[in-house]
Amino acid sequence: MKTPIMETEATKTSGAAESFWVSDMPPILFSPLEKNISVEVAIIGGGIAGMSIAYFLSQQGRKVAVIDDGAIGSGESGRTTAHLTYALDTRYYELENLHGRDGARFAAESHIAAIDTIETIVKEENISCDFKRVDGYLFRSGEDTEKDPLRKELDVLHRIGKKEVALQKEAPLPFSTGMCLHFPHQGQFHPLKYLAGLAEAILRKDGKICTETHVKDFDVSVITTDTNHTVNAYFIVVTTNVPVNDRTRIHTKQAPYRTYVIGARIPKDSIGKSLYWDTGRTEGGLAKPYHYIRTQPLDETYDLLIIGGEDKKTGQNDNSRYERIEAWARNRFPMIRDIPYRWSGQVVNPIDGIGFIGRNPLDKNIYIATGFSGNGMTHGTVAGILITDLIVGKRNPWTDLYDPSRKSILAARGYLEENLNVVKQYTGWLRKGDIPSFHELTPGQGAIMRRGLSKVAVYRDETGTVHEFSAICPHLGCIIQWNFQEKTFDCPCHGSRFTSYGKVINGPSNTDLNKK
Ligand SMILES: Cc1cc2nc3c(=O)[nH]c(=O)nc-3n(C[C@H](O)[C@H](O)[C@H](O)COP(=O)(O)OP(=O)(O)OC[C@H]3O[C@@H](n4cnc5c(N)ncnc54)[C@H](O)[C@@H]3O)c2cc1C
Ligand code: FES
Repeated sequence: MKTPIMETEATKTSGAAESFWVSDMPPILFSPLEKNISVEVAIIGGGIAGMSIAYFLSQQGRKVAVIDDGAIGSGESGRTTAHLTYALDTRYYELENLHGRDGARFAAESHIAAIDTIETIVKEENISCDFKRVDGYLFRSGEDTEKDPLRKELDVLHRIGKKEVALQKEAPLPFSTGMCLHFPHQGQFHPLKYLAGLAEAILRKDGKICTETHVKDFDVSVITTDTNHTVNAYFIVVTTNVPVNDRTRIHTKQAPYRTYVIGARIPKDSIGKSLYWDTGRTEGGLAKPYHYIRTQPLDETYDLLIIGGEDKKTGQNDNSRYERIEAWARNRFPMIRDIPYRWSGQVVNPIDGIGFIGRNPLDKNIYIATGFSGNGMTHGTVAGILITDLIVGKRNPWTDLYDPSRKSILAARGYLEENLNVVKQYTGWLRKGDIPSFHELTPGQGAIMRRGLSKVAVYRDETGTVHEFSAICPHLGCIIQWNFQEKTFDCPCHGSRFTSYGKVINGPSNTDLNKK
């Protein structure tokens, strides 16, 4: 049977909308795995985390293989906005509360080390990826209900030694931001060009990279692909954005959100080359979606102004997200000419603000890296440094902070709220379908239908053929939802996602939707 178009596209990126980065260069593809192999370390997932781990281990002479079921960077690393910063999504005053002063200090130091490391790799490996040191500015959102958040943040940053951060009157933007925090010497780059550079460096050290190879089974020392080829390894590292080797241990400690991005053309240099963030607002007590802004050179005449935000829980999204960002942007950036790019992606928010990087709970030689929130470029690089140290047996002071088995008692409120939200999603079983019959579907559209007691996911492809699947998520049984913007079926419970042809593209599910 001919491969449907959408399945081929899932190789390139994880949805119908293409990010600027994905449309800017060809997919990074290598041969699929076609025989059984043995290596020291098998890494599943070729995003920033998997590729950074493979890079560091191969530099130390370890034999590694990276396996990805799409292209390299076809997950969220190709949909990011690639700010490189230690101004983290979770405020330092919350991190100090949750992890103590040393925890907050290690968080800052590890993300600073990540930016420095990326800069060093770019220089040493001669990677042409538009890496640039830029300043960052955090300003208060008009919708922020927190009392004096910038002053509180500054106090903690100074207490943990980050004296270079300063309060200043305005951020250099075309609208008045009011007081802001200035973070000097942050960074930005083109994420896919960087990953292509890492791939070349890994191959130079005799590492193996296989793309379009789905890993279906994980055992203690062997992984098996869809084509029944195996990789034997002393160590297995799962960097699939959310772990697909584990059904329950980590997924209650983090929550998946869609975040939305527009890329607008503006006259060259009409906005200073820096990173900008507002402090966001609290929405339903669950998350703090905030706006994040940077520029990227486009051509001789224009820059791309990249603005993201308006996060919403996966599978619980509504129609208005791009419109809201666009309205916000047009009110503040009158120089916007047009908006050629719109895309969304998935961020995974840990309940206590810090990623889970280290040994998988209860496993001896399986490691995971997940829960990166909107700081995955630096978290992924931290994973490269930390998991390499753990595997080669080198002490690393960040181990306890990032330990996936840590208990964050103080984060219990966030834990309860997120998990109550998950429980609520099971009422999806009681809801009516989106449409009474598939006859109502136009080409390129999907929906959930009720048929007797069961729920069916239906998609009508561009040729008019209707494809039907069970609407029950193979992970833990929630009813999936149609995401009309990305043309995918998304699960509102823990964020599993499937193409319109039922193929899994995002965990925790590692299996496709059941065909009807
Ligand atoms: C819109 C958006 C903006 C963001 N902005 C920023 C930012 O400015 N700065 C920042 O630091 N972070 C940002 N982030 C977060 C960051 O992009 C992510 O956290 C990071 O890219 C995740 O990297 P990863 O390697 O963990 O996962 P991914 O890049 O998602 O890689 C996982 C890979 O695993 C593969 N895979 C999954 N299952 C299997 C399987 N069974 N077999 C084989 N392969 C499999 C997938 O194909 C995928 O390529 C943003 C994210 C989004 C969505
Ligand atoms: S992702 Fe857990 S039930 Fe769907």
